[in-house]
Amino acid sequence: MQASDFNPFSPTVRANPYPYYEVLRETAPVYWNEQLRVHLVSRFEDVLFVTKSPALFSSKRSLVREEQYAAAETVAPVLVGTLRRGSMLTADPPIHTRLRNLVSRAFTPRRVADMEPFIRRLSRELISQLPESGEFDLMKELAEPLPIIVIAEMLGVEPARRLDFKRWSDDTVASTTVLLNGGDPALVEPGIREMRDYLEGVIAARRKEPRDDLISALLENGEKEGVLTAETVVDFCRLLLVAGNETTTNLLGNGMRALLSNPEQLERLTAEPALIPNAVEEMLRYDSPVQAVSRYVLQDVEIAGTRIPAGSNVMTLLGSANRDPRKYTDPERFDVTRNAQGMVSFGHGIHFCLGAPLARLEAKVALEELLEPGRRFSFAPGQRERVEITNHFSIRGPKALRLRAEATG
Ligand code: HEM
Repeated sequence: MQASDFNPFSPTVRANPYPYYEVLRETAPVYWNEQLRVHLVSRFEDVLFVTKSPALFSSKRSLVREEQYAAAETVAPVLVGTLRRGSMLTADPPIHTRLRNLVSRAFTPRRVADMEPFIRRLSRELISQLPESGEFDLMKELAEPLPIIVIAEMLGVEPARRLDFKRWSDDTVASTTVLLNGGDPALVEPGIREMRDYLEGVIAARRKEPRDDLISALLENGEKEGVLTAETVVDFCRLLLVAGNETTTNLLGNGMRALLSNPEQLERLTAEPALIPNAVEEMLRYDSPVQAVSRYVLQDVEIAGTRIPAGSNVMTLLGSANRDPRKYTDPERFDVTRNAQGMVSFGHGIHFCLGAPLARLEAKVALEELLEPGRRFSFAPGQRERVEITNHFSIRGPKALRLRAEATG
């Protein structure tokens, strides 16, 4: 295997990118990938350097090139407009600072902590619908509905529309891959358009009659200060609805997959549920739901002895950094007692994931409820070797995770 074998769109690489990362880290820590036209950065220290230096590495330019936008514009104008406008995630200081302060004031630790009883009730309800004994798909029954219902509740949009949110959110996540990899943008345009129209309706209603929800809080702070336009409120809601959806789903999926693949770790965690918050950190480190984030190079810079010219793109491989032996001892081992501190699955620096406390809380509560005594879970027969991974160059998780429940005692 060599560095050039790493193609993030290839199903073989997607199935298990980790051996490829090792080759990149050890033989070409900064590697030019012709297909994506990016410099891949794979070592922990270098990933940290890129993400903590926004003056050198901008978040503003996406990997999608102008000609790719132009080609899609006639069939997918709402999609292209949305991506071109970007969001907090794709803003640099000082605009990023202003937007982040604003959302942080609405999306407070208090508001997140207050969600715990709701998250627990919902987890219990979803888990109570799993068979006492028999097979089920963990993604469909728990990992997918949980985060989307929670963020819908926080935003103040109708959880009953969750299947629409999921579809819109999936279309949004897929849209970059579609543009980058020559797919048909007309397929995702309706989802993006419906989401915009729906959010515009809710925002108009909250503007007239505010409630105790995130959208009303955003409107109150943002419009008072003249920071938010009608369009940016929609962009924010879309970001919150999408950013925390598939990612948290995949934390649960990747995490349970790691646990079930390591039955002694599952046993340890079941016996000692106080370890669950630590296990969540290890799940994030071991198999990160977001494998990569990219940046645009503003000034010539050198990383690991390689000169990177201004005007090029770099992609930091978070999933690789998390398994760098320079940072973690025996990094390929999944260990729920490990100190995984420093893992970069939520990014690092000014764009550090705003939803990290919520994602951690959802995973903790869901696992606590799932590992309650009375039922034992394992892979459904033949599933362990056959887990299919989502088809995205950066988001990583199982498409389905078929498990078998067995009543105990
Ligand atoms: C940013 C991962 C859950 C909202 C990020 C970034 C990463 C990330 C890697 C940084 C991107 C960059 O540097 O370019 C994750 C993972 C999650 C998760 C792995 C679940 C396990 C959530 C949730 C929400 C959320 C639940 C909100 C409901 C955001 C927002 C940003 C962000 C708004 C942009 C922050 C900024 O640009 O300042 N996330 N995320 N995320 N995340 Fe998350």
